[in-house]
Amino acid sequence: MSQHLTAIYDTRVAEGILRPDPAQRAVLVRLEPIREALEAPVKKGLLSRFRKAEVAGPRGLYLWGGVGRGKSMLMDLFHAHVGIAEKRRVHFHAFMQEVQSALHEVRKTGVDDAIKPVAEQIARDIRLLCFDEMQITDIADAMIVGRLFQALFEAGVYVVTTSNRHPGELYKDGLNRQLFLPFIDLLQENLGVDQLEAMTDYRQDRLSGEQVYFHPADAAARSAIDRLWQGLTEGREEELLLEVKGREVHLPRYWAGMARASFWDLCGQPLGPADYLALVGAVKLLVLEGVPRLDATKFNEAKRFVTLIDALYEGHVRLICSAEDEPERLYLEGAGSFEFERTASRLREMQGADWGEG
Ligand SMILES: Nc1ncnc2c1ncn2[C@@H]1O[C@H](COP(=O)(O)OP(=O)(O)OP(=O)(O)O)[C@@H](O)[C@H]1O
Ligand SMILES: [Mg+2]
Repeated sequence: MSQHLTAIYDTRVAEGILRPDPAQRAVLVRLEPIREALEAPVKKGLLSRFRKAEVAGPRGLYLWGGVGRGKSMLMDLFHAHVGIAEKRRVHFHAFMQEVQSALHEVRKTGVDDAIKPVAEQIARDIRLLCFDEMQITDIADAMIVGRLFQALFEAGVYVVTTSNRHPGELYKDGLNRQLFLPFIDLLQENLGVDQLEAMTDYRQDRLSGEQVYFHPADAAARSAIDRLWQGLTEGREEELLLEVKGREVHLPRYWAGMARASFWDLCGQPLGPADYLALVGAVKLLVLEGVPRLDATKFNEAKRFVTLIDALYEGHVRLICSAEDEPERLYLEGAGSFEFERTASRLREMQGADWGEG
């Protein structure tokens, strides 16, 4: 008999890794029967697990709530301790990209209805899918998730997912939303829906009292940021590719709503407002390293930097930054240097202990 999820949680609390939070613990109580169902021996033959009717209870959990409450942490704890091999934890956006390209491949073979074979392909190897950050912004995704997840549930796949929104708020104001509504019903019929009402924003908490703006951007700044990043991600990272109107924004260092990039990655490339908005949609915390002193010869970089900071500011994204100088001295001459005052002021405000809350 494996250890109860709440017992694992309590151990982490006792070890001082986690602070005790009854709301978080309650989620693990909800996840426990899902784990038990997954660990129960699968009847061989007759495709028994493909008979949804045979399985009682929800097919997983949709966990939603405000930023930094511990949703990803709880999902990861669950995922790590479900004693089956056929499981996968994946960022929702990355999963949908894979699905879209699999659909594309299947359609090439002349199949009309590609969704079913793609879902069957997924369900062949996987019994549990854990999605971090379910959100739907893309119409191409919105139009297929209903039938895709219907097929996945029918194939016996369990789904545990985190999101910042209640299912009823997904794809809000999206194009052709009425065609998307069956997906919301499907989620609510198949999954338990839980709001994580933890009182603390633990991400904020981990950063409170920490320096988040470093200058100059030297080796000391780098190692201080390494330490912060390690504490926030616990050493885990993955790549995330954002697709924006046919272009790609590549985030090579990403984990659970946090990304780490250099100034040149984000402001040295021909990226524009739409790209930065997509970035803001995907992260709640950005580590931006190596902002140089800018001048008239770096006009384009300066302009992108202004756009990036505006987008982060509007989106309440937490920023950890290293730069050559104080915000006010980053762009003293060149077109738009007057407007840069606002950027500098925002950079100051974003260093505040309670910045990004709510
Ligand atoms: N009870 C806790 N005690 C201490 N740290 C915690 C606790 N719960 C979560 N954390 C830490 O707080 C940070 C934020 O947690 P997590 O990423 O799980 O939040 P989230 O709800 O997924 O937020 P978001 O909605 O922004 O994705 C992580 O570094 C996590 O390890
Ligand atoms: Mg999260």
